[in-house]
Amino acid sequence: MRVLLVGSGGREHALAAALARSPLLGALFTAPGNPGTAGLGTNVPIAADDVAALVAFARAEHVDLVVPGPEAPLVAGLADACAAAGIACAGPSAAAARLEGSKSFTKEICDEAGIPTARWERFTEATAAHAFVRRRGAPIVIKADGLAAGKGVVVAQSVAEAEAAIVDMMEHASLGGAGSSLVIEECLQGEEVSLFAFCDGADAVLIGAAQDHKRIGEGDTGANTGGMGAISPPPGFGREAQERALDLLVRPALAVLARRGTPFRGVIFAGLMLTAQGPKLIEFNVRFGDPEAQALLLRLQSDLLAALVAMCEGRLSESGLRFCGQAAIAVVLAGRGYPGEPATGGAITGIEAAEAIAGVRVFQAATTLDAQGVLRGSGGRVLSVCARANTLADARDAAYAGIARIAWPDGIWRRDIGVRALGCSA
Ligand code: AMP
Ligand code: GLY
Repeated sequence: MRVLLVGSGGREHALAAALARSPLLGALFTAPGNPGTAGLGTNVPIAADDVAALVAFARAEHVDLVVPGPEAPLVAGLADACAAAGIACAGPSAAAARLEGSKSFTKEICDEAGIPTARWERFTEATAAHAFVRRRGAPIVIKADGLAAGKGVVVAQSVAEAEAAIVDMMEHASLGGAGSSLVIEECLQGEEVSLFAFCDGADAVLIGAAQDHKRIGEGDTGANTGGMGAISPPPGFGREAQERALDLLVRPALAVLARRGTPFRGVIFAGLMLTAQGPKLIEFNVRFGDPEAQALLLRLQSDLLAALVAMCEGRLSESGLRFCGQAAIAVVLAGRGYPGEPATGGAITGIEAAEAIAGVRVFQAATTLDAQGVLRGSGGRVLSVCARANTLADARDAAYAGIARIAWPDGIWRRDIGVRALGCSA
């Protein structure tokens, strides 16, 4: 099969590595890809959200399957354009991708499907939003309704912080149009986990679960990021609990979407809070998580490409997914300054030495190779140093031993990924 993978992050490098292991794979193209994916196939200089150019390329190259990594092309209609061109796409239509594109849409689906979630209200006027926050008090969560590249949520610990977020997102339009409508909701307490499933419109098959580390600082402090590290599986959220959460939080949403005539086909990512009252939905995403995918896919033993094809053909029961019982971890190395303006251009060495450690794998994200063949950081999240081992403690030790072999003066990373799960201190 000829496959076009869309995206350029660590998630896409991990997806490319899993696809490259498939005996079904004939050719792998990644648009736009990164130096990591270049080692596994052919990078194509097309932006991940340039739907027209992606489909034109897929047509010209007789691509059999398009595998979207990030949400932006899906929200922009990549799956619909592929369908119109007669090309299979392992992601949802724009109508179903609204699950990620609009927070209020997701909340409406939750209410219609009876899915447990934080109590919420939507505001399009700042005065009403301010009044609501003053009435409700803190902690309270302010969310830009539209897509905001992971920057649209403020978990406010005080009314002043909540009001500042309203001023910022709505009155100063810091996130552009994404903040012209806000969802304000109850703050949930508990452990947060990410649940992944393949869906074919009617059915869902569990992929597995992971736990992200969203804050930039150790001890879960500081600004929210795209994710600074992940572990899989999350301790205390085993297979049975994952299946129950799929029944409670995901299948009812899929049923509502199907009933509305916009069935969901693709990878669904449910962000959950394990509260004292049971799991509650925080959000849906319409894709694999980054860096969750890096940890999750390290544990995949079966053929990812075969599973994606089965999903696209509505044969999910034949997807044959199999994961090993080992633990996996991903630790993100980011450019100093991230999630603000990151330092870029610094040389990175030592990836091969890191990968010489048993079980260690390094996935690249914002990296470039210069004319001399030197690898350099070129953005926020730059590397995911991952490891798999019999226990989370061993996987953690291996990943950090890998990081110790990497030389990159601009790099910052959290030293406590997986520590809370292990119940010990760094
Ligand atoms: P989202 O963009 O919806 O993933 O939100 C980003 C992060 O904000 C989530 O991963 C949670 O850590 C946090 N968050 C979002 N909604 C809530 C909520 N209702 N209660 C507590 N934390 C939340
Ligand atoms: N790591 C969270 C996400 O991919 O949205």
